[in-house]
Amino acid sequence: MRHLLTTESLTRAEIEELLDLADEFTDVLGREIPKVPALRGLTVGTLFFEPSTRTRLSFERAAKALSADVMSFSPSTSSLSKGESLKDTVLTLQAMGCDLMVVRHKATGAPWRVAEWTDCPVVNGGDGAHQHPTQALLDSLTVRRHFGKLDGLHIAIVGDIRHSRVARSDLFAMSTLGARVTMVAPPTLLPLDIDDWPCDVSFELDDVLGGMDVVYLLRIQAERGGATVFPSLPEYVQRFGMTRARFDRLSPEAVVMHPGPMNRGVEIAPEVADHPRSLVLDQVRAGVAVRMAVLFRLGQAVRTEVPS
Ligand code: NCD
Repeated sequence: MRHLLTTESLTRAEIEELLDLADEFTDVLGREIPKVPALRGLTVGTLFFEPSTRTRLSFERAAKALSADVMSFSPSTSSLSKGESLKDTVLTLQAMGCDLMVVRHKATGAPWRVAEWTDCPVVNGGDGAHQHPTQALLDSLTVRRHFGKLDGLHIAIVGDIRHSRVARSDLFAMSTLGARVTMVAPPTLLPLDIDDWPCDVSFELDDVLGGMDVVYLLRIQAERGGATVFPSLPEYVQRFGMTRARFDRLSPEAVVMHPGPMNRGVEIAPEVADHPRSLVLDQVRAGVAVRMAVLFRLGQAVRTEVPS
């Protein structure tokens, strides 16, 4: 694996290897000194052209726990505002000694372009509404830890499927690991090619609620037009929100998940978000270990290229 750009092409063995590695790094993170020298001497660049809290911070935390150095690029304080192109920005970071790049961009495919322009391994930290592979890996790890496996589980992904890179990435990873996925949304929040996706579809959350092991809630992606395609927020909450009343109708073993940032009171009620059967913070914790696994795997290739 040279880059991590999408979950669509990952095999079950590749995903499981990364999750097993993440389990080992979880042990490292629990030590008194949560650090290993694995990537000492390498520099990880985080290039986030879209806002981020969890993804950027956990990549930086992961890189530092592997003893790598971090170069952090932010568009608002950079020469992007002076008109510099993505290509020139990327080549500049490489010329400064960046060995691995994590790229988030609003344009679908941007991380693939970066991978063509540079010699660095590239991790897709989210490209438009397309893919967010490390989110899918951390979600899969969270589910695997909770239930022991994904095989045979039934997972509902609920909300703005159309504009969600998380929905696409999670679907491919989780179905490859043996889960059955049902996308739940009003027709206007489903992608036009949904029939080609390896999932079931429901327009009514209440119809499928009782049979689910995991209900995964998504934020309405207002920045991609998600808020303009249904009548009003109260109506959305009434049909698709994980209210306390709906939570009480889940099977007693079922859990809820959310990638963050949460809009409490819209797709998830505050008391559901904070419930012991909400795995939201387990997801965040798994994110650091998963990103360590990904950086370690890609960083090893950089190491073997360096002439000794
Ligand atoms: C998601 C993203 O940016 O794609 N957040 C995340 O990375 N944890 C989901 C979102 O913004 O709704």
